[in-house]
Amino acid sequence: MLKRRYAAALAAVFLIAALTACGGREDRTIRVGVALYRQDDTFITSLAQSLQQMVPEEEQVQGVKINLNVVDGRGSQTVQNEQVDQFLDRGYDVICVNIVDRTAAAVIIDKAQAAGVPVVFFNREPVEEDLNRWEYAYYVGTRADEAGRIEGGLVLDAWRAEPSALDRSGDGILQYVMLEGEPGHQDALLRTEHSVRTLTAAGVPMEKLSNHAADWQRGPARLRMQRWLEELGDAIEVVFANNDDMALGAIDACLDAGLEKEEMPFIVGVDATAPALKALEEGTLQGTVFNDAPGQARGILNLSCALALGQDPEDTNLLENGKYIWLEHIAVTRQNLEEFLPEEP
Ligand code: GAL
Repeated sequence: MLKRRYAAALAAVFLIAALTACGGREDRTIRVGVALYRQDDTFITSLAQSLQQMVPEEEQVQGVKINLNVVDGRGSQTVQNEQVDQFLDRGYDVICVNIVDRTAAAVIIDKAQAAGVPVVFFNREPVEEDLNRWEYAYYVGTRADEAGRIEGGLVLDAWRAEPSALDRSGDGILQYVMLEGEPGHQDALLRTEHSVRTLTAAGVPMEKLSNHAADWQRGPARLRMQRWLEELGDAIEVVFANNDDMALGAIDACLDAGLEKEEMPFIVGVDATAPALKALEEGTLQGTVFNDAPGQARGILNLSCALALGQDPEDTNLLENGKYIWLEHIAVTRQNLEEFLPEEP
């Protein structure tokens, strides 16, 4: 008798659990707060657009309503902290943070933990020690050193194919300038280091003429390249840019100076944004590295839904080392450009 009553009680518990998990889901709304470091960043805009475009399909798959609130931190950690506070005060289910200042991650993690709300960082990677502060802190992004190696590989391949086309001075050394992203950003540090190292490790003699942090932006990169062209002129054989917007800034300066594309240095970037693919097609940009915005958006959304619905993301095979979703970079040249061009409507 006792056993039977116990079994009945257990069945009731399972029934309630099943109803909450399935039937109850139809009218459930998941609230996801997305805090961008700056909305006017070309790559971040494309990532945010991908996220928004994926919501209707994900709603179908999950059988829930997803309320995605995207806010712009305008490059200020103070503003972003306030936005995070608001998400938490309003009872959001998950917060996704493209953190302005990577060293401020501990503050955000502690706030999220106090509110019991999982936090998914993306694109701007907190140090592992910070991420390990709390079980429900995650990161979605790409490996910064990999982008650098691929970018260096684009130059190495061209050097191997026809050294004289790059080494215009004929001195056997590749003279280069480096346009860097924000100081302290993992992508700026590691892309800079590994792009050059890929060539030196392959035995190509390299000489740095100058470097400058143009903070991922086209305008400042253009101004700096104008100055370099005045000071260094033809001596610049390669321009490494940590991202495409800065590579496009360098191209703008070359065009301003009246250079034909054949006269420009060998310019490479990272991201494979739409305007960069156009420049590649036109022949002013020599190569870029695909930074998978849709893949990162998919990772952020899948992880957020799993967390909001109380699923263990480990069970869904989403994570590496319990914390990370990594997307891979791909080299883009004129040979495989077609694969990356947006589909015609
Ligand atoms: C990089 C990207 C840059 C910029 C930066 C912002 O991954 O290549 O273009 O968007 O992130 O954090």
